[in-house]
This record gives sequence, C-alpha cells and structure tokens, in this order.
Amino acid sequence: MALLSFNNVFKVYREGDHPVYAVRGVNFTISSGEFVAVMGASGSGKSTILNILGLLDRPTTGTYKLEDIDVSSLDDDEMSEIRCRRIGIVFQSFNLFAQFSVVENVCTPMRYAHVPPAIMRARAEELLGKLGMSHRLSHRPTQLSGGERQRVAIARALSNDPPLILADEPTGNLDEKTGEEVIRILTTLVEGGRTVVMVTHNPAYEEIVDRVIRLHDGEIVEDRPGGRGGRRA
Ligand SMILES: Nc1ncnc2c1ncn2[C@@H]1O[C@H](COP(=O)(O)OP(=O)(O)O)[C@@H](O)[C@H]1O
Ligand SMILES: [Mg+2]
Repeated sequence: MALLSFNNVFKVYREGDHPVYAVRGVNFTISSGEFVAVMGASGSGKSTILNILGLLDRPTTGTYKLEDIDVSSLDDDEMSEIRCRRIGIVFQSFNLFAQFSVVENVCTPMRYAHVPPAIMRARAEELLGKLGMSHRLSHRPTQLSGGERQRVAIARALSNDPPLILADEPTGNLDEKTGEEVIRILTTLVEGGRTVVMVTHNPAYEEIVDRVIRLHDGEIVEDRPGGRGGRRA
C-alpha cells in the first residue's frame, strides 16, 4: 500500500540572481512498511528531499502526496498539524531542546497534539524505557552521550505514534558501535510496521534496508532493492 509519493518534484532556491536547483524532477512512491536509504554525495539534494517529506519545506513545483492527501498544497498550519501527528523526524545533530529534560523533550510533540498531561508523561516514560533511557529521565541533553541523545530524539519522534519516520544521517555524529545501535532501533521500527526513510553515507546500510535511492545533482540516478529487497516487493 502506498504511504506517500513524489510526482515530478522540483526545489529551486534563489541565490541572488542565480537559481540553485536542489531537486530536479524527482518521482517515487514509498509503500507502508518500507525501509528506504537515500544516498548520494554532499549537495545532491538528500536533506532537501527529507525536509519536503517532513513538511519542513515545500516543493517549488510538483506534488507530494501523503496518505492520499496532497500535502504540498496545504497551508502552514495544516502542514504543522500533519507533521506533528503523522511524521517523526530524527536529525544528525539530535536537535533536542537544551533547556528541557529528557522527559520534557519527548513530551513536546504530544503537547502540540493536545495529549492530556498524565497520558503524555506515561507515554514518554514508556517510550524512554523501551529505548533503554529510564535511568536518565530528568537529565538535560548536555548531560547525555551522543547515542543517548539520539535515543531521546527517536523517542520524541515516536511520541505521537506516527507511521512515517524520517532520519537525516542519524548516525553521522556517532561512533560506529553507537551508530549501529541506532540502526538496530530503526530496523525494529520497520519490523513493527513503520516506514523509515533514512539519509545515510554508509554503504554498509545498503544491506539492511529494503530499498536504496541514490541522488546526483538533485536527480535520482539509482532506485533499487537493498539487502532486504524483495521482502515486501
Ligand atoms: N536554503 C538554501 N538556499 C540555497 N541553496 C540551498 C539551500 N538549501 C540547500 N541548498 C543547495 O541545494 C543543494 C542540495 O542541498 P542538500 O539537500 O542540503 O544536499 P545534501 O543533503 O545531499 O548534502 C546544494 O547545492 C545546497 O547548497
Ligand atoms: Mg544533508
């Protein structure tokens, strides 16, 4: 079942008089439950595509459909609403709120979604428990290791139980072993039925995803099964 699709998506930035074509005519359909790696050299358009997928940015032209809604034509408030409930995003630099505790960080998206406080807190603690962070609930992000920060960021991304998880180089700031733990967590999410789209530079991860989409200068130059490919084809 198709979860989302890009139809002829372009993203053009303006740099003074010069247009910068970050994404040029990209098409894909991603099914529910797929684990997709987006790869390509620096500057090839990976983050731009992920930001559009995450409703943090809009296509200049073309359409993005998520769960049968043309989300590229929604206004900012409608976009925020869908982002908050249907999409969880994990970044290379974690992007936790430094002034908030671990639990408060995980509660933030639920606060936006008007989840009652008692339920919010219980759900945050449950998610942090599943990610092995129960002993750090009151810590601030600066008091955590990189791997711990990323686990908190993943718990936060999962708090409203979204079907789509986006991860932009989630292991980019982690050592190899810690990075592998994060990948294992993402794999578990896919096994639980979620869809994960991950930007990565690490060729080793081509073997553990269902599909590899490779970009060059804003265009898809390769779209093929990964090491788990065929499993859901
Ligand atoms: N806000 C922006 N303004 C102008 N150019 C941008 C902006 N964001 C990205 N770009 C350009 O678009 C291209 C793709 O960027 P990006 O999607 O960040 O690539 P990647 O994540 O693959 O490294 C690059 O040439 C980059 O310089
Ligand atoms: Mg990038």
